[in-house]
Amino acid sequence: MKNHAALITGASGGIGLEIAKLLALDHSHLVLADIRQEALENACSSIRSLAPDCEIIPLVLDLAQTGAAEQVFSHPSLQELEIGTLVNNAGFGTFGLFQETNWEKESRMLQLHVLTLTHLTKLVLPGMIARKQGRILNVASVAGFQPSPLMAVYNASKAYVLSFSEALANEVKGTGVSVTVLCPGLTPTGFQARVGVGKPEMTANKWISSSADFVARKAIADLKKGKTVSIPGRINYLLANAHRFLPRNTVTAMVRKVQEKNRSFLKKGP
Ligand SMILES: NC(=O)c1ccc[n+]([C@@H]2O[C@H](COP(=O)([O-])OP(=O)(O)OC[C@H]3O[C@@H](n4cnc5c(N)ncnc54)[C@H](OP(=O)(O)O)[C@@H]3O)[C@@H](O)[C@H]2O)c1
Repeated sequence: MKNHAALITGASGGIGLEIAKLLALDHSHLVLADIRQEALENACSSIRSLAPDCEIIPLVLDLAQTGAAEQVFSHPSLQELEIGTLVNNAGFGTFGLFQETNWEKESRMLQLHVLTLTHLTKLVLPGMIARKQGRILNVASVAGFQPSPLMAVYNASKAYVLSFSEALANEVKGTGVSVTVLCPGLTPTGFQARVGVGKPEMTANKWISSSADFVARKAIADLKKGKTVSIPGRINYLLANAHRFLPRNTVTAMVRKVQEKNRSFLKKGP
């Protein structure tokens, strides 16, 4: 596929890097956008060793800034390329009571999860529709299926990604383009350290956590099938659907109990 590129955000580590490794096998070019140069260079080297024929274009930029999507899309190194696959993966979480959390961090998260993801999709989609070919993978979370006290803004932002992607998947039916929304559960990556929760024994528990490699394989399999909602792991599938059978305020209260446990752990330390 000459000049057929996959554009992946947040590809330096975790789920994004595993997705990039798999997409490198199917695309002539990978465009990887992430915030830290050194981490991105390391990611490029590890992908190159797996897929030497794939040309990798690293873009170092802060995707939580206004205008970031336009900056990526209009980058000179992308002008000769057709974006065949777009993966909106970059993201991070915040934890704590909304009245106490840091607004700067939260507003950057909203910019990244909501505005950059939506704008990048808007910029890439018309070309895909004109070529009658393309795949979009938006990374939400099982968190998108229910509200979470102590992670109110994170869960709400992932509910946006889920709702937006499901609606868009319906709109593009029959155009040759598909939209898939990936909803992982607990996956040990850099995410836990950044958000400040995730006990080592919890992330190591094979019943509730999946590896980033497993999540990426499920995502790419579902992306290729054109499936709309992709949930890796049976427990996560149950978690994502259990709320349907309970009153909404009961679900919110149950999630609060789990998060209060995380908070008491944070206060005590590991
Ligand atoms: N891990 C989980 O349990 C889990 C569960 C459900 C959903 N998710 C979602 O999965 C996606 C990938 O997360 P992950 O678990 O793979 O975490 P990760 O290992 O921290 O990877 C996220 C990547 O995005 C980058 N990034 C963060 N902010 C950015 C910005 N402003 N501009 C450019 N790049 C930025 C990170 O860079 P830095 O390392 O420099 O921050 C990192 O390389 C996220 O959307 C997350 O919400 C994760």
